[in-house]
Amino acid sequence: MKSVIPAREAVARMRPYHPPLEGRDGKLRLDFNENTIGCSPLVRQAIRKLTSAAVSMYPEQESVRRELAQFFKVHRDELLLTNGTDEALHLIVDTFVEPDDTVLLVEPTFAMYRFYSERAGARIQALRYDAAMQFPMKALLAALRKSPRIFFLANPNNPTGSVLQTAGLRRILKAATKTLVVVDEAYFEFSGITILPWIRRHNNLVVTRTFSKAAGLAGLRLGCIFAHGSISEHFRKAQSPYPVNVAALVAARATLRDRQFLRSTLSEFRRSRKELERGLAKLGIPFFPSAANFVLLFLGARAKAVVAALARQGTLIRDRSSDFGGAGYVRITFGTLTQTRRVLRQLEEIL
Ligand SMILES: Cc1ncc(COP(=O)(O)O)c(C=O)c1O
Repeated sequence: MKSVIPAREAVARMRPYHPPLEGRDGKLRLDFNENTIGCSPLVRQAIRKLTSAAVSMYPEQESVRRELAQFFKVHRDELLLTNGTDEALHLIVDTFVEPDDTVLLVEPTFAMYRFYSERAGARIQALRYDAAMQFPMKALLAALRKSPRIFFLANPNNPTGSVLQTAGLRRILKAATKTLVVVDEAYFEFSGITILPWIRRHNNLVVTRTFSKAAGLAGLRLGCIFAHGSISEHFRKAQSPYPVNVAALVAARATLRDRQFLRSTLSEFRRSRKELERGLAKLGIPFFPSAANFVLLFLGARAKAVVAALARQGTLIRDRSSDFGGAGYVRITFGTLTQTRRVLRQLEEIL
């Protein structure tokens, strides 16, 4: 039956987005850049200890926000907690984008920048990484001179794995005099490159972080927005009253208390990255250097068949060909060293 109530024009115009698939539990999930090691045992302990009263109350976040602000070395006013980065992006767009404003992207990149912007009725101006996954800095600086409303940048970028150094970010901020620059540092823990402290001196910079990747809390949905007080006050006004659930709040606190978990996760990923890169080189599969917890490789015409054959063996990787005009690119998340060896063995058999 057809709906008699038309959706907003912007929604009707949107390309449908195909959200992550169901049925991934129990498989080797190297397809969505999650942390396959899991989360800190302190997180599970903290969730187990939640009382019935705590669960039946609307969540109070101030004490956790204070602790997180201290951890990230920002003022409380400069930090908002969100229901994952997804809510952060939604809030940023809702707060700053009017219909027909221009949102600038460099694609391929994280799909949610386009998703929320299109939904708000924005015009998308999309530049492209070149075939060597080089960032189009010159074209970007020229585009920024036309004062788009927002420029979204994932740094490191997903799915290319490439990262801009701080010198490049400085040039961008210098050119973006009338543009809100949103730097999504979802993979910061893997790259070590951040401009979070710059929010103090740039009142057009927003930095986002997530607990979904290195901290392994993707299922709890916890993200952060960092911005100068003059920007974050708008977000605070526009945000829903209870964006972060009580389990995510206690999990965040437990994550901060277990620095050893983060250190061992990162060192396992480094070992995995080396092993995977060595294995891919041995198999003659071209790949792009990555500063994140995944790697983009080129399988050409074999891509679809390889992804399907791995799935039959219980290993999920992500076909990203649609990001590159159908040209056979695949993304693999780094798992543990054992998981990485397993996927390499399977790849070798299949190829
Ligand atoms: C660049 C980037 N930002 C944000 C996210 C999602 O973060 P969250 O789970 O906090 O919504 C992803 C997930 O893949 C990502 O690649």
